[in-house]
Amino acid sequence: MEKKWCMIATWEMAKEGVEKGSSILQDRGNCCDAVETGVKTVEDCPEYTSVGYGGLPNEECEVEMDAAFMDGKNLSIGAVAGIKDFKNPVSIARKLSENRFNIFLVGAGAEAYAHKNGFERKNMLTEESKKIWEKRKKEMSEKNLSPYDGHDTICMIALDKCGDMAAATSTSGLFMKKRGRVGDSPLSGSGFYVDNEIGGAAATGLGEDIMKGCLSYDTVQRMKRGISPMEAAQSSVRDFSEKLKKIRGYSGAMSLIAVNNRGEWGIGTNVEFTFVVGNSEKVRVYRAVPMENKVVIERLKDSL
Ligand code: GLY
Repeated sequence: MEKKWCMIATWEMAKEGVEKGSSILQDRGNCCDAVETGVKTVEDCPEYTSVGYGGLPNEECEVEMDAAFMDGKNLSIGAVAGIKDFKNPVSIARKLSENRFNIFLVGAGAEAYAHKNGFERKNMLTEESKKIWEKRKKEMSEKNLSPYDGHDTICMIALDKCGDMAAATSTSGLFMKKRGRVGDSPLSGSGFYVDNEIGGAAATGLGEDIMKGCLSYDTVQRMKRGISPMEAAQSSVRDFSEKLKKIRGYSGAMSLIAVNNRGEWGIGTNVEFTFVVGNSEKVRVYRAVPMENKVVIERLKDSL
C-alpha cells in the first residue's frame, strides 16, 4: 500500500531543495535521492554562506566542509569531514555509505577518495566569502570578538511512499574555526540519525554542544518510546540545554528537526530558527520561537 511521504529540513534556505526532493517523493522516488538532491541544491548556491559553495572559511581562509548521509533501511552511513575543493560533499558521503569499511573519511583522505571516484572538484571560496572573512579578521583583532556567529547546517530527512527513510547533512562549520575542527554534522547520533523502524532526527547549532548530548540519537530513541516527533525533539533540546545550564551556567544554540515513519514531524529549539516541511499538502516554510517551556511555530511561506 502507498504510504504517506514527508520531507523536513533546517532553515529557510532549504526551500528550493525541499521542493525538488518533494517532487521526487511525490513521483514515487526514493528517499535517498530526495535528500541528496535537496542538500546538493543548497550546496550549489553561493548565497548561503554556511554550506558548500560560498561557505565561510576557517581561520586560514580555507573552506573545510563536513557532510553525512544515512540510509534508514539498512542503517548505512557515509561521512566526510574537513574536505576542501569538492563541489558536493553530500554525494561523496552517500557514495561512502555503500562501503563495509572506511565509511568516514577526513581531510586529504576524503579528497583522494573523491578524486578517485570521479567527484567534481571546485574552488568553494567565493570572492564574497573572502571579503566577509577579511572584514571579520580585522574586527577580531580590533575588538576582540568571538569568532562564532550563527548556526546554519543544512539537514534533510525524507520518508518515501515505500516507507523508507534517509537523512543527510552538509556544512562549512563554524566561521573562523581552527583548521581541522569538526562539528556535529558528520557525526552519527549527534548531527543526524534515521531508522526506518522509528524515524529520523537531525541537528543544527553549536556542534561542540550538540555532540555532548548526541541529540539526534536521543530524539529518535524518545520517538521509539512512543513519543510524538514534536514532543521528542522539544524535550530532548529542553532537557539537554537545562543540563548544560545546570552544569556550567549556559547552553549553546541547538535546533532539531524530526519525523517519524508515519510522516508526523516535529522540531525542538532553544533559539529562533526557520525550517521547511514538504508533504502531500504543500512545501511550507515555518519559524519556530522558543518560549518558556514551549516552542511557538508560525507559518511563513508556502510554495505556489
Ligand atoms: N552544527 C554545525 C557545526 O557546529 O559545525
